[in-house]
Amino acid sequence: MRSLTIYYSKSGNTRTVANTLKSELKTHRLEIVDLWENKTLSELLLPTIRNSAQILPDGIVVDPYYEVVFIGTPVYFGSVTPAIAKFIRNTDFQGKDVIVFNTFKYMGYENSLRRLAKLVKKSNGNIIRAFSIQCNGNQENIIESTKRAIEELNI
Ligand SMILES: Cc1cc2nc3c(=O)[nH]c(=O)nc-3n(C[C@H](O)[C@H](O)[C@H](O)COP(=O)(O)O)c2cc1C
Repeated sequence: MRSLTIYYSKSGNTRTVANTLKSELKTHRLEIVDLWENKTLSELLLPTIRNSAQILPDGIVVDPYYEVVFIGTPVYFGSVTPAIAKFIRNTDFQGKDVIVFNTFKYMGYENSLRRLAKLVKKSNGNIIRAFSIQCNGNQENIIESTKRAIEELNI
C-alpha cells in the first residue's frame, strides 16, 4: 500500500505515531510546521488566532502515487491544531482514501476526530478509518498502542 502520513506534532507524540506508521507500513511522512509556534494558551483559545497558523509546506497537491493518506494531529481543547486544520483547508484530497488519527492525554479525542473528518470531507477526501492514541509520556507505550491500532485497521 503506497501511503503518506501528514501530521503536526509539537511535543513529539504524534511524530512517534507517524514514525511507527513508517516502520510498520513503509508510510512516507510529511510534517507540517507552524511558523508561529509560541502561542500562549489564551491566544490558542481565541478563534481568530486558532485560525491563523502560518504553515510550511503550503499549497500542496497530494501526489497521485499515494493510495492512502494518514492525517494526524494532537488534540487541542477537544479539537484539532490550527496548523493541521489550515493544511487540510489548503489541500484537495479528491480521489484519496484518508485515515485520520489523533494523540491525546485525557479527553476530547472523539470530538477532535469528528472535526478532523469533517475538514477532510470538505476538502473532498474519502474517510475510510479513524483511530486515537492515548499518550502518557512513555514513548514505548505510544509505539505499542500504534502497532495495535494498525492491526485493528485491517488494511
Ligand atoms: C494547547 C494544548 C491543548 C490540549 N488539549 C487537550 C485536550 O483537550 N484533551 C487532551 O486529552 N489532551 C490535550 N492536550 C494534550 C495533547 O493532545 C497531547 O499531549 C498530544 O499527544 C500532544 O501531541 P504532540 O506531542 O504530537 O504535540 C493539549 C495540549 C496542548 C499543548
